[in-house]
Amino acid sequence: MKKSIKIFAPATVANLCCGFDVLGCCLDNVGDEMIISLTSEPGVKITKIDGANLPMETHKNVAGVSVEALLKKYGKEIGVEIEIYKKIKAGSGIGSSAASSAGAVWAVNYLLENPFTAHELVAFAMEGEKLASGNAHADNVAPALLGSFTLVRSYNPLDVVRLNAPSDLVMTVIHPQIEVKTSDSRSVIKQNVKLKDAVQQWGNVGGLVAGLLTEDYELIGRSLEDVIIEPLRSILIPEFKAVKEAAILKGALGCGISGSGPSIFALSKGEVTANLVAEAMQEIYSKTGLDFDIHVSKINSQGVRIMK
Ligand code: HSE
Repeated sequence: MKKSIKIFAPATVANLCCGFDVLGCCLDNVGDEMIISLTSEPGVKITKIDGANLPMETHKNVAGVSVEALLKKYGKEIGVEIEIYKKIKAGSGIGSSAASSAGAVWAVNYLLENPFTAHELVAFAMEGEKLASGNAHADNVAPALLGSFTLVRSYNPLDVVRLNAPSDLVMTVIHPQIEVKTSDSRSVIKQNVKLKDAVQQWGNVGGLVAGLLTEDYELIGRSLEDVIIEPLRSILIPEFKAVKEAAILKGALGCGISGSGPSIFALSKGEVTANLVAEAMQEIYSKTGLDFDIHVSKINSQGVRIMK
């Protein structure tokens, strides 16, 4: 017995400025590939990792622990083999660990003929995030599994809401080739927040959600603001301020840190603006001497998908 599928496991942008640990969205043309197989020998095995130096031991691998969490709940002895072809670099801030975790549980669920809903898969994939960063945040795995934009309304109990996105939104992401570990980037955040900052932040979260649902691009732009996390984390990212100013000048609706960084994202209305933003980002980074990648992507409304 060997049933296999090849999947695309998308990159994601978490936080979206105001929504630390609660908002995220799914990219369309940036992501990993994985081949997942059911086998007759029970147990989860990582049989290949290409493109990254990551642990092959199941209990140390984010895809491995996520699938083990799924199988524990499924309750039957199943054999799973996982091949991972990494295209998203670890520590990039565009959901590298989330892609592996979400892709693996989505594919195993598919091969088992969908015993779990996509919403239920989020909890299994969060086990991978817990292993990767010490914190089971869902703002990358939820959009990877559900597509579009997602809001984690509550962690306990887990309540994830998928939000439709206006069709003209396009994401530009610059990824400086320096690794910022999510655990390190979380350690610079203060545990206490001033009430006046909290008021501004939750106003923006509400504004962003309303803007997405009513396709109000200007409201989306006004709401892409982070008064709590960005001031602390942006110091870890070379040229953050210059990139943000240039993106806004070129017409981006908003710009901020992608997840825990070092990637910087900008959301624009339409591909023309998103490409102008990409050029402006490139111009700034070309002068730093640092290597970088730039992606321009539509929002992926589907999430993980099967590849032919
Ligand atoms: N919400 C998480 C953080 C996302 O900002 O630490 C990590 O990609």
